[in-house]
Amino acid sequence: MDHFHYRQGLLHAEEVPLAAIAAAVGTPFYCYSSATIERHLAAFRTGLAGLDTLVCYALKANSNQAVIATLARGGAGADVVSGGELERALRAGVPAERIVFSGVGKTAEEMAQALAAGILQFNVESEPELLALDAVARRLGKRAAIALRVNPDVDAGTHDKITTGRKENKFGIAIEAAPRLYRQAAGLSGLRPASIAMHIGSQLTDLRPFEAAFGRLRDLALRLRRDGIALERLDLGGGLGIPYGRETPPTPADYALLVRRLFGDLGLRLMFEPGRLIVGNAGILVSRVLYVKQAGRRFVVCDAAMNDLLRPAMYDAWHAVVPLNEPAPGAPLAPADLVGPVCESADVFAKERALPPLGAGDLIALRTAGAYGAVMASTYNTRPLLPEVLVRGHEFFTVRPRQTLEALIGQDRLPPWLSQRPAKGAA
Ligand code: LLP
Repeated sequence: MDHFHYRQGLLHAEEVPLAAIAAAVGTPFYCYSSATIERHLAAFRTGLAGLDTLVCYALKANSNQAVIATLARGGAGADVVSGGELERALRAGVPAERIVFSGVGKTAEEMAQALAAGILQFNVESEPELLALDAVARRLGKRAAIALRVNPDVDAGTHDKITTGRKENKFGIAIEAAPRLYRQAAGLSGLRPASIAMHIGSQLTDLRPFEAAFGRLRDLALRLRRDGIALERLDLGGGLGIPYGRETPPTPADYALLVRRLFGDLGLRLMFEPGRLIVGNAGILVSRVLYVKQAGRRFVVCDAAMNDLLRPAMYDAWHAVVPLNEPAPGAPLAPADLVGPVCESADVFAKERALPPLGAGDLIALRTAGAYGAVMASTYNTRPLLPEVLVRGHEFFTVRPRQTLEALIGQDRLPPWLSQRPAKGAA
């Protein structure tokens, strides 16, 4: 459920007509709904009521300060994967004791930064990282609470580029190696093994991979207990899928039932790292049609492009396309390719999609763009980063202005040998 709907024929975000935002900030732009973000956080928590839980929102899905602050006010923690994300979480008001640091390649500087901030937990992904973290912590006179991120070798059945829980993926530590590494970690004075972490992939639309992976996690937790490791919590990762189109992913309530069944009796705090589930359907990308080109097929060329929303080009992702002006009932649908202006054949948002009649100047929205949209944008083709707008009820606010060309080009510097104009007469 989200809060983007037609009212009197005009697409609104909550109580605000999106055309009004387009008039204020220009196109293209991202728009997020506060009510949807809050609703998804609440829906995720409802099924888990009564359990000791901490929801650490995966910042990588959408790390705008206003989005993080909305969730932080709702009591969420943060899952970060870089020193940059850690800084974003702290600045947006997430308390350090609700922050978990994941990722396969933390640098010593990032470890020191996180230890100084006093974060809750590091999710460690390899033996060398374990030793590196121990060394950094001892140097700073600290003890880092850790989880080993274990790889259960379960196929999550998602797109190849977003699955993480198989042996051949770069993520995590083979689950069989975990008992030995926990014993080793327990003997290192810079570390305190406190948790086990797992994340098997993203956009899972089936509970069975979760069930298989969680079963292994439970077995490992029991085994470590027998080995005398004092676990305080388990981190079950993120990955629960959302509907982009016709998929019917498990509901947060179904997921919660599974979690309760497998972990409810352990007396451990349960942590989660949802990203997409919280913000995916809370955001849209609004764009304007520039041209409609009939060339054998119908190409609708809009002003947004793959650099603004990479998912269709990168994962063949399907995003619903809707006009901001509601089509008349019974308006004819005809196949069209919705494409952007970037010079790449992959710059296609939708192929042979049944779309209503569209003409130059019409506004459209790509739905379910709140997760892995703005954060994955680039400035390819020297296209400035888009504005992001957050709506709350009747209000809207530009939470990131459109990047100026000056800010974009002004980053470049000429070396001394190019900074003088060529001498007159030089060839
Ligand atoms: N925790 C860890 C350790 C992760 O690697 C991820 C996502 C999450 C949590 C959050 O997963 P979520 O709940 O959002 O599924 N760019 C891709 C998705 C990449 C996901 C990377 N890791 C996409 O646009 O589909």
